[in-house]
This record gives sequence, structure tokens and C-alpha cells, in this order.
Amino acid sequence: MRTIIVTGGSGFIGSNFLQRFVLRQADVHFINVDKLTYAGNPMSLSAIENSENYSFEQVDICDSEAVTAVFQRYDPDCILHFAAESHVDRSIHAPRDFFTTNVGGTLNLLECCRAHWQGDSENFFHHVSTDEVYGSLPEDGYFTEATPYDPSSPYSASKASSDHLVRAYHRTYGLAIKLTNCSNNYGPYQFPEKLIPLMILNAVEGLPLPVYGNGKNVRDWLYVTDHCDAIWRIIQQGRVGETYNVGGDCEKTNIDVVRAICDGVATATDQEPSSLRDLIRFVPDRPGHDFRYAIDASKVQKELGWKPTESFESGLKKTVQWYLSNVDWIAKVRSGEYREWLKSNYEERNEG
Ligand SMILES: NC(=O)c1ccc[n+]([C@@H]2O[C@H](COP(=O)([O-])OP(=O)(O)OC[C@H]3O[C@@H](n4cnc5c(N)ncnc54)[C@H](O)[C@@H]3O)[C@@H](O)[C@H]2O)c1
Repeated sequence: MRTIIVTGGSGFIGSNFLQRFVLRQADVHFINVDKLTYAGNPMSLSAIENSENYSFEQVDICDSEAVTAVFQRYDPDCILHFAAESHVDRSIHAPRDFFTTNVGGTLNLLECCRAHWQGDSENFFHHVSTDEVYGSLPEDGYFTEATPYDPSSPYSASKASSDHLVRAYHRTYGLAIKLTNCSNNYGPYQFPEKLIPLMILNAVEGLPLPVYGNGKNVRDWLYVTDHCDAIWRIIQQGRVGETYNVGGDCEKTNIDVVRAICDGVATATDQEPSSLRDLIRFVPDRPGHDFRYAIDASKVQKELGWKPTESFESGLKKTVQWYLSNVDWIAKVRSGEYREWLKSNYEERNEG
């Protein structure tokens, strides 16, 4: 493989992926195609922006002429598709944007692949998706690759629609595809509207720590570079036409996550953990809030030998340290439009 277009490479997972693999894979040309929405931040890529095997194109994936021009210019072997509207709470306020980008943008990319590759099975489209497409689990059980889709939020419904489109292009047109459904990621460079960075920054500033409902909802957490490594392995060795579930085997209730953050920030800043735990406030539950997500990742583990390397404790420690040390990055992403949104939605927040 020589040329990979990475959509959404300036976002949280995409920028971690590019930082990791642009430096390690000098023989691969990575082209980051990103519109730079509020969630895309060029500062996240400063370590690699001058690398010879890295290029950036500020392009909206919904703009078919612009995407076609990128395909013609670079003649990619693979599309790694991260770009999306990704915040569940925003999808409840503005669902249309999610369908425009997550469904319309994905359709546009698939059409470009079909036109450009014309059945060449060496090239493929890797679609990055979420475990939220499967809906909610009770106290027990796991999502497998065979679990029926049952999305609850406009975000997860839009991701489910895009997953179906990707598979339909495989069955109908023979387009070579791979698909991953991953659990909640955390780590450096995550936009601070998501649970873990929001709670870290609020705890540092002594602000309330709003937790939805009774805090007993369960998520399966995965450190972001473990997700990136799973994707790389699937790009290299995963079977075409297959879906792989990726997860951390690390179930936590939201309240346990927030308490762990309080303790981590307290240790790092020399404060009493109880003084930060006192900032926790339970707020009215999110509509359609799924109770539990838990991934069975045995397929990717058995077939490709992938497993997570970070424990929740080690990953959270690194994450807290990163947010405490990167004030410039935080100031930049919290300015402008996001600041306004934060003000008008102050009581609301989410974990995915
Ligand atoms: N964050 C998670 O926990 C998680 C878990 C599983 C799967 N995913 C999936 O992984 C992907 C990346 O998630 P993330 O958390 O990095 O998201 P993010 O919101 O941090 O980043 C999204 C990126 O996509 C770009 N983008 C948005 N709309 C675009 C458009 N129309 N054209 C071009 N670029 C556009 C943004 O500028 C941004 O750089 C998403 O598809 C998401 O559904 C995320």
C-alpha cells in the first residue's frame, strides 16, 4: 500500500492515528482530508505537518467535486474514513448536520471510490464506526459483529446508516471494504465536550462536574492509540468485506469514571480527592440514553492478535497529565464557537 487518504485526520482519533503512523511508515503517503469543523484542529498535527509523507487538503467530504479532485490528484490505494460529526448531545440539538456529513459525506466518498477504482479489488475503503449502532445492553451480554443494529440517538442512527451504505456498496458493486465498530475512546487531543476531557478540565478549574441521571450507565473504554493500532492491523491484515468489533474489555460506570478523574487530578495537582468529588452534580438524564455498551472483541484478537496495551489506570494517568500540560491546545479549542455552545448548554454533557 502506498497512498492512504485519511478523512477527519485533524480530529481526536484521526490526529492520534496520523501522529503515530506518519512517522513510523515512511513508505506510505498519508493525505489528511478534513473540513476543519469546530472539532478539527491543525495544532494537533504540528509534530508531523512538515513530514514528506504527509499532505493536507481542507475539503468537505460532502463536496463531490472537491473529493473527486483529491482522488485524481493522489490516486489513493485506501480510504480510511474517520470524518464525522461525533458528539451525541450535538446530534440531539441538530440532527440534520449529522445526516449530512455522516451519511451524505460517506455516500459521496463511496461514489468516488466506485468511480475512481472501477472494481480494482486491491484498493479498499475502511470505515471507522462505533459500538453505539448496536443500541443498549442490559446488565449482561456483549455486542458481537452479529448483533442487530438498534441505534438510539441521531448520532448512532447516522453512523448505522453509513455502516449499512458501506456494506451495500460491497454487496452491490463489489467495492472492497473493511469496517470497525469501536467502543468509547479517550486520550490526548479529544475535544473537551466529551466526558473525560470535560471532567478533567472542570475539575482543574473547580467547576461543577455534571453527570447524567444516576451515573450508573456503563461504557467500555479504550485508550485511543490502542484503537489506532487495531485499525492499522486491520488495514494491513484484516479480511476484505469483514466487520471487526474493537473494545477495551474495560467496563466502567460513568460515576466511577468521574470519581477516578477526580482522584487523578487531585494527585496531579496536590489536592484532596474529596474536595474534587464534592463538585459532582447529577443532572437530568440525556433523552434516549443507552444503559450499557460492552464489546466482544474476540474476533480481532483471535484473527489478528490485537489486544489493548493500556489499562484504564495507566491510560487515564497519561490523559490527565496531557490535559494539564497542553494549555495552548486547550485554549485554542475552547475559543470561538465552542465557547458559545458551552455557555448555552452548560448543564448538559455526555460520555460519547
Ligand atoms: N471518539 C470515540 O469514542 C469514537 C468511538 C468509536 C468510533 N468513533 C468514530 O471515529 C471517527 C472519529 O471520531 P473522533 O472522536 O475523532 O471525532 P472528532 O469529532 O474528534 O473529529 C472529527 C473530524 O472530522 C472532521 N469533519 C467533520 N465533518 C467533516 C466533513 N464534512 N468533511 C471533512 N471533515 C469533516 C472534523 O473537522 C474533525 O477533524 C468518527 O467516525 C466516530 O464516529 C469515535
